Amino acid sequence: MKLKALAAIGLLCATTQLSAKTLKVDIAIDANQTGAVINKDIYGQFAEHLGRGIYEGVWVGEDSAIPNTRGFRTDVLEALRDIKVPLVRWPGGCFADEYHWREGIGPRQDRPVKVNTHWGGVEEPNSFGTHEFFEFVELLGADAYVNGNLGSGSVREMAEWVEYMTGEKGSTLANERRANGREEPFKIAYFGIGNEAWGCGGNMRPEYYADLYNQYATFLKTPEGKKPKFVASGGHTEDTTWTDVLSKNIDSNIDGISYHFYTLPNSDWDHKGRAIKFTEQEWFDTMERTYRMDEYVRANIATLDKNDPDGNIGLYVDEWGTWYDPEPERDPGFLYQQNTLRDAVVAAVNFNIFHQHAERVTMTNIAQMVNVLQAMILTDKEKMVLTPTYHAYGMYKVFQDATSVQFSLKTDQYKQGKKSVPGVTASVARGKDGKLHLALVNLDPLNDAAIALSVKGAKVNRAVGQVLTAQAMDTRNTFTQPNNIAPTAFEASLDDLTIPAKSVLVVELK
Ligand code: AHR
Repeated sequence: MKLKALAAIGLLCATTQLSAKTLKVDIAIDANQTGAVINKDIYGQFAEHLGRGIYEGVWVGEDSAIPNTRGFRTDVLEALRDIKVPLVRWPGGCFADEYHWREGIGPRQDRPVKVNTHWGGVEEPNSFGTHEFFEFVELLGADAYVNGNLGSGSVREMAEWVEYMTGEKGSTLANERRANGREEPFKIAYFGIGNEAWGCGGNMRPEYYADLYNQYATFLKTPEGKKPKFVASGGHTEDTTWTDVLSKNIDSNIDGISYHFYTLPNSDWDHKGRAIKFTEQEWFDTMERTYRMDEYVRANIATLDKNDPDGNIGLYVDEWGTWYDPEPERDPGFLYQQNTLRDAVVAAVNFNIFHQHAERVTMTNIAQMVNVLQAMILTDKEKMVLTPTYHAYGMYKVFQDATSVQFSLKTDQYKQGKKSVPGVTASVARGKDGKLHLALVNLDPLNDAAIALSVKGAKVNRAVGQVLTAQAMDTRNTFTQPNNIAPTAFEASLDDLTIPAKSVLVVELK
């Protein structure tokens, strides 16, 4: 371990010498001034029936040659436990609005085989259904976010699913759950009423959806004290209309409005850009576009502040992350993409944005957990690799349920032509462990950043933790080289704190 740390410091020096110019950053922390708690659910994941996200990625079945725990891949379970996944959203996405829960319960061999019309037109065996989902999250130690089918289902179907999952009495539905092997009710933390109602969820107007939401929510009944947080399906990207209309027209039975924003290197959905072997211009464009999350979240929060001044409705960013062109040799409907250092930096930039808005942004789900879009984990049959994004989640886990600490930040910009983004963004929080944690991300792929740090209200002089960086912008882990990139030990005096170009750093201030 010590050797590894020394090697890492050596590597950092090499990077420093290569740096063309050093960004200047001033951070002033006041440890006495605390703010909102950073809800652990900001670190939620999304697992849709899409490509190899569920089948192979999570579920292989008890008879598989791949080592498994009651049908769930043991390697994936262990890796996800290590980053403390707090919440998983399932079964979609677009898939949710074509999912009929009854097809996913009872003996597996009797479940109907459907066609997944959204994602690759492949056969959907329904082997992973309600019971498997809850068993999976319970094995992870995570909470469940179930997304109901408003688009092609009915009020009755949704209400019966909720009763089946949560019923405590001797109703026929609760007894059916018991007969299927689960005595105790399942615990649902969040329940989504439809998904992307403006698109794959039914191509609706927000006014029409708001009426439907009110109707559906009326009939979703749970035993006393077991009500999940209800999520209305909101807008995306720069649009705030959905947030506005929903927060004006739904005034009870709502805990949050969902919001989706994907980071594409450019705005052309037919030519989004490559996941690997990209140029510095594409790196910059990705950073510039992902940083728009801040502006979009602010705009949605301003809308909520107007319509919901008491702050009862959360802004749930329940789909976000990078979306690149599919790999040429793979099924384009599977949304499988490689994941590089760039993705880890994108993840950390977004964590820092969510932390800044932790009062309203109390839950998010990155898309998606395994083998789909900006994944934590990639699998190839029995092999598994952890992506740089996985490592960013691992490093940031100290921020789960931590209390924000106030700071100011002045940074040089990272520029290309007329556009620019902050060179460095940051988070500071007091962890549940009582420790003072600082996260820094350097968006600039060429230049190191020298951090002039002052701390009021805490006696600290060292930064001790981990850094994630590499020589190439598209450094990635592969099935043949699974350990190309991983966090390494980092230690510096606060008088001399420099972070490498294109890096994510999480340290304790001691
Ligand atoms: O995450 C992939 C898809 O993106 C989801 O199914 C949908 O909600 C969104 O458009």
